[in-house]
Amino acid sequence: MSFYITTPIYYVNAQPHLGHAYTTIAADVLARHMRQRGEDVFFLTGTDEHGEPVADAAHAEGVDPQELADRNAERFKALMPRLNASNDFFIRTTDEQHKLKVQEVLQRVHDNGHTYKGMYEGWYCPRCADFKVENEILEGNLCPIHEIPLERHQEENWFFRLSTFQEPLEQLYRDHPDFVMPSRHFNEASSFIAAGLQDVSLSRARLKWGVTVPWDPSHVFYVWFDALLNYYTALSYADPAEDLNPRFWPATYHIIGKDILKFHTVFWPALLMAAGIELPDHVFVHGFLLGADGRKMSKSLGNVLDPFEVMEEFGTDALRFYLMRDVAFGGDGAVGMHAVRSRYETELANEYGNLASRTVAMVHRYRDGSGPTVSTDPELAFDFDGLREQVAMLLDRAEATQALEVIWQRVRRLNRYVEERAPWQLARDPAAGEQLDQTLASLVEGVRVLSVLLHPYMPGTTQRLLEALGAPDLNYQSAVFAASGDGGAVVALEPLFPKRA
Ligand code: ME8
Ligand code: MG
Repeated sequence: MSFYITTPIYYVNAQPHLGHAYTTIAADVLARHMRQRGEDVFFLTGTDEHGEPVADAAHAEGVDPQELADRNAERFKALMPRLNASNDFFIRTTDEQHKLKVQEVLQRVHDNGHTYKGMYEGWYCPRCADFKVENEILEGNLCPIHEIPLERHQEENWFFRLSTFQEPLEQLYRDHPDFVMPSRHFNEASSFIAAGLQDVSLSRARLKWGVTVPWDPSHVFYVWFDALLNYYTALSYADPAEDLNPRFWPATYHIIGKDILKFHTVFWPALLMAAGIELPDHVFVHGFLLGADGRKMSKSLGNVLDPFEVMEEFGTDALRFYLMRDVAFGGDGAVGMHAVRSRYETELANEYGNLASRTVAMVHRYRDGSGPTVSTDPELAFDFDGLREQVAMLLDRAEATQALEVIWQRVRRLNRYVEERAPWQLARDPAAGEQLDQTLASLVEGVRVLSVLLHPYMPGTTQRLLEALGAPDLNYQSAVFAASGDGGAVVALEPLFPKRA
């Protein structure tokens, strides 16, 4: 089966921060997991380079928007390998092929009669590139996301007849209760629709920095329409040898933050309907990473935790693990360096890392580095029973934190097993040789299975460990607790999560 997953494309008006890393990591976990299961995966990320947010930032710096876009797009591009993200393509909305495809699709929307010219007046946030409706505006006329003053804007625009999609959208939500996940965001989107949809502006007359409206070249498209279409346009040129559209469209998952819910759960399906394009299966909406002040981490509030700093200190896998573990995926959560350190020390170093080191060290000390081939402990096998299926089921629903939790329960189970069996005592008792063999075979097997399951979360570390265990197979089929040890040679291993100063 094909599995197409996307992140939002990030604005190049500033440098990447932890929020961008977060969504990218979450999408990468799902993409890697699905590849392990043998699915045909396409994972897309990229940058959103047009519109007021970028034009304004460039203006403030006194540079050309293209120059700012080029500079910051490079930074986002460089972030991906640093996060060990396995994206199959990186789209930039200034790509010529993207712009042409946007024009083609929106021309079709126009030809289908879903646009008209009209006058728009309303409260506008330049950072969101969005007109805010009455119930969104904060006291003092502030943007609910950026908490900056809204501007009164009036201009002649092309409009998209969003209001005519009221009924089709209601139908979509009735028929597909998992179109938006988790359910609280499904409810939020449905109520937004139920409150009554107003037409939205589709173009800008004043702005130059955007994709030209083909039927009225004095306008550029409103950045959100250009941006949303990236999910569709990318497939047409990501691979020069093949149009990937038939293979991967419609998208399986759009992963987004809740700040851009309205665009993805209301505008986007309506736009696709208007263009006669099939709708995606799911939009998964995650919460906000909050700063120490309890507010959304954002550049404009100056409360950001730098992902590069975290990775320098603790490594890429620790950042990935921390974000998927400490903030329940789908909800909000505060993040900070202190909490990273604490997860690193207690769970990564002391639980998983220590389990791995002990297992490898004991096989060396007591069995000269060969994993015993005897049968594994049926009681432990029982505790792993159904784990692979449970993790797959949770990740099918993008429950990345919950899946990690059920895996981690087995990490703890194995550590208890070491204490219960006390191999160091068995080793002193000449009559306990078989028991020691079984204990070591079970530990090697348990660590192996958990590392295959943990691979999407911590690709580098788990691969290193699996290689040390002589069991590099990452295939999801192999994540079952076997009835006997495979006897492979276990090689010495440096600490996976070394102590930090
Ligand atoms: O909105 N907590 O780009 P953007 C969690 N270009 N996630 C966060 C976050 C936080 N504090 N801050 C950012 C745009 N994010 C548009 C999107 S898509 C067709 C166009 C993540 O640079 C989260 O995924 O403002 C959020 O939705 C996204 O970055 C917004 O990135
Ligand atoms: Mg934003």
